[in-house]
Amino acid sequence: MKTFRYLFAAATAIILVSFKKPDPLPLYKNKSASIESRVNDLLKRMTLDEKVMQLSQYTLGLNDNENNINDLSKGFDPHAGSLIYFGSDPLFRNAVQKKAVEETRLGIPILFGFDIIHGCKTLYPIPLAVGCSWNTELNREACSNSAKETYLSGINWTFSPMVDVARDPRWGRVAEGYGEDPYTGAQFGASAVRGYQGQSLSAPNNIAACLKHYLAYGLVEGGRDYSFTDVSQQLLQDTYLVSFKAGVKAGASTVMSSFNDISGTPSTINKYLLTDILKTQWGFKGFVVADWDAIAQLMNQGVAKDPEQAGERALNAGLDMDMLSDIYRKYIPDLLKQKKITMATVDEAVRRVLTLKFKLGLFDNPYTPVVAESQRYLQPETKKTANQLAAESMVLLKNKDNILPISGSIKSLAIIGPMVNDSTDLMGSWTGRANAKDVESINSALRGEFSGKLQLNYAHGCDFDGKDDSGFDVAINAAKNSDEVVLFLGEKNSWSGENTSRSTIALPEIQERLVAAIKKTGKPIIIVLINGRPLALKNIEPDADAILEAWQPGTVGATAITGILSGRINPSGKLDITFPLTTGQIPVYYDMHPRARPYLGNYQDIPTEPLYWFGYGLSYTTYNYSDVKLSSTKIKKTEHLIAKVEVDNTGKIDGKEAVLWYIAHPEATISRPRKELKFFEKKLIKKGEKIVYTFDLDPERDLSYPDASGKQILESGDYYLMVGSQKVKFEVTD
Ligand code: NOJ
Repeated sequence: MKTFRYLFAAATAIILVSFKKPDPLPLYKNKSASIESRVNDLLKRMTLDEKVMQLSQYTLGLNDNENNINDLSKGFDPHAGSLIYFGSDPLFRNAVQKKAVEETRLGIPILFGFDIIHGCKTLYPIPLAVGCSWNTELNREACSNSAKETYLSGINWTFSPMVDVARDPRWGRVAEGYGEDPYTGAQFGASAVRGYQGQSLSAPNNIAACLKHYLAYGLVEGGRDYSFTDVSQQLLQDTYLVSFKAGVKAGASTVMSSFNDISGTPSTINKYLLTDILKTQWGFKGFVVADWDAIAQLMNQGVAKDPEQAGERALNAGLDMDMLSDIYRKYIPDLLKQKKITMATVDEAVRRVLTLKFKLGLFDNPYTPVVAESQRYLQPETKKTANQLAAESMVLLKNKDNILPISGSIKSLAIIGPMVNDSTDLMGSWTGRANAKDVESINSALRGEFSGKLQLNYAHGCDFDGKDDSGFDVAINAAKNSDEVVLFLGEKNSWSGENTSRSTIALPEIQERLVAAIKKTGKPIIIVLINGRPLALKNIEPDADAILEAWQPGTVGATAITGILSGRINPSGKLDITFPLTTGQIPVYYDMHPRARPYLGNYQDIPTEPLYWFGYGLSYTTYNYSDVKLSSTKIKKTEHLIAKVEVDNTGKIDGKEAVLWYIAHPEATISRPRKELKFFEKKLIKKGEKIVYTFDLDPERDLSYPDASGKQILESGDYYLMVGSQKVKFEVTD
């Protein structure tokens, strides 16, 4: 009987088991549920350790950036929230992702990030150059192409764009942003975000962007990287928040806090910046990642006695993800026990990280499609955009007697300088996954451009620096045997970017001496500069007949240089940063505030004016600006002012002209900059053609300014509108 009962029970159990419904798919795995409900569901299932890991970022692969060497690059934990992927192999990346997705309890995918600053395999010009193109649409396209190469390399998140306003060219990181003006930074930064992220983050080939470095990093004292910065509330509102606000509005998924100490409170623990402004005032829904090891560095900055305190302050300030210091993982559990942080704060940070992973579609499509390298990188259309952007970002600074473009009547050209045969230094800093072997040298581009037309006499001349002038004689002979000379000078790519501050921004003496030696031959001199920061050209400018600022133009930039030299391309760049005459003039930028005695206070030993102001750049054609027409000279605060200027291409070739519109408000309650850029537009004008440029001025957007608390003020009174060399007055009434 007993046996029978057992058998009966067993049979019933078997029947029940076989009829039991399969475990329902957890809500967070349900593709058709809303992201919010998926995040909430997942959060409820997570242990504290799992949560803490989502807030931790480590590295994967070989870290080749000397500023960021860290032994954590050797291994990885599949529970990590994010890995900085020092690689471009999607197979390896997918194998790592598989461990996270298939071998961890909850299967949370890893977010792979990397610094793709101005291109992945195809390098675009450095961002400082890109700003000089005044072509935000082209920048969007470039960032979109670069997102595709990045995505196919297994990376879903780039630490770009850098939108720091940078006015001190001693700071090597000027190369990484869009120059000295907040409005320019805002426009280019927003276009980069749109390019990287596309219409939908989950669509293939799109990646998440990261606005950095929040905030005022460009103000580091003396241009010394990682230093203290002091910034008034007014300047913060007026200048430094502007580009970040625009980037957030454009939908940037993440923000990186900066290393610097801002008037005593490093950004890493600056609650006012991270929480009050960014998350509360602006409604930023993404997450904030620390800069490299920045939480640990709080101890160097004198604002934390130990790692635990550093972690507490950072998390409570609103810093969501810990890059590399491993402090969140180690200390959050204890900090919770001690009630120094709350679970709500931890959950909020985790929620932000998970939300981005869902938005990127990583839960539903965690793997990178594997495409052959030949289809992945350096595609013709990508190179075409890179070449066009390089061409549009180069700035013709001087062109005495129209020596450029090189005339068809000359027979021979000396090509001299350390840059002629160099590919590496055309790349700039932050080279993504690019190889110098894919970068065409200037020498090869020159031979392509001028073959059969000109005899090219090459000489190295000298190295970038040092004292060796033994190559001067050969260079002088090459010059003597040629009709004209082009000197290719500049900086090595390791001289700009992170941790590359310089006490002087002049070219090294050996290069200046080379210019002087060639000048003695009496041959016309064209100087092409390849560099990552404005240079002080006081000693060489007088010897040059022409100067072309080519910046570090990237993979296919050399043919843009030679195209400008030959006249195949008409230069259209205008500076996004002022070129001081000497290093001692720093800081000098176009939107300085007016001084008490404009006619006094000049330097006694050098001119006070910089060599080239922001907005400066020449063309091979000539443009005539008509008188500006205003819809009215008096508007109410609620009315728009329509300003029009007709630009006539009066020269012999087509050209692209960027028109820059500035305003000035000389009777503001809080002093305003001498002038402020409010709008720009670049258009193609065919020779003999006239094009009307229109600025639709919205007083609320274009004339109001913030006070120290961030409240926008719109004042009635006199204003000026400036365009080209014109300045017209208008009045705003209540
Ligand atoms: C430090 C740099 O400041 C930052 O710009 C970069 O994104 C991170 N390292 C990651 O490489």
